[in-house]
Amino acid sequence: GLAFALVPAAGIGERSGADRPKQYVEVAGRPLMAHTLAALLAVPALSATLVVLSPEDSHFEKALPEFHGDRAWLARCGGATRAATVAAGLDELMARGARAQDWVLVHDAARCLLRPEWVQQLIAACADEAVGGLLALPLADTLKEAHQGRSRSTLDRRGKWAAQTPQMFRIGMLREALALAGAAVTDEASAIEALGHEPLLVEASLENFKVTWPADFALAERLLRSR
Ligand code: C5P
Repeated sequence: GLAFALVPAAGIGERSGADRPKQYVEVAGRPLMAHTLAALLAVPALSATLVVLSPEDSHFEKALPEFHGDRAWLARCGGATRAATVAAGLDELMARGARAQDWVLVHDAARCLLRPEWVQQLIAACADEAVGGLLALPLADTLKEAHQGRSRSTLDRRGKWAAQTPQMFRIGMLREALALAGAAVTDEASAIEALGHEPLLVEASLENFKVTWPADFALAERLLRSR
C-alpha cells in the first residue's frame, strides 16, 4: 500500500511556557513545525503529508506560507485530545483517497529534529510487518514512582522503551484501534496494543526528542544550527 504522514498539530503546548502553541515558536530561524514538515516532505516514499490543525488555529497560514503543493495537505479537524485529532485526520486521509490498507505514519509536530533517514528506516523495518511499528529508545534513566514530590519506589527499567514518533500502522486498523481505545491514549501504539497486537520497536536516536519544556527550545535550536 501507499504511505501517508499525519501530523497532529492541534495541541496548545501547555508545558512549554511559550506565548503561542509550541509548534509555532521560532527555532533556528523558522517556526518549529517548519523543520518537522521539511523532514517529512523530503521522504519520497510518503505520498502526502497531512497536517491536522485545530479549527481555531490562527497561526498556520502566516507561519508556514511555503507549505503547499500536491504532497502537502492541510485539515482543520483537530480535536480535544491527540487521539481525537489523529482519528479525525485518518477520516480526512480516506476522504482524500487513501485506502484502509495503506500505511499512515503519525508524527508529532513537536519532534522537529526528525531526519528523513529515520523515517526511511522505519518504513523499511515495517515493510514486512502485518501490523506496523514505531521509533523508540531503550530507557537510559532509572525510573521513579513519585508521590508528592518524593521518590516512593523504583521501577525496573529493563525491557522499557520510550516511545517516539513516527508510529506506522495501517489506516484501517488504526481507525478501529482509536475508536475502541478512547481519548486517554497518548500514542497510537497503545491503541494498537489494546487490540492484542505487538508493534515493532525500531531503535531511534535521542535527538528525536519532543520539544516539551521551556529549555527544550534552546537545545533544539543548537542541534538544528549544527546540522
Ligand atoms: O502535548 P504533547 O506534546 O503530548 O502533544 C503531542 C502532539 O499531539 C503535538 O504535536 C500536539 O500538537 C498534538 N496534539 C493534537 N491535538 C490535541 C493535543 C495534542 O494534535 N488535542
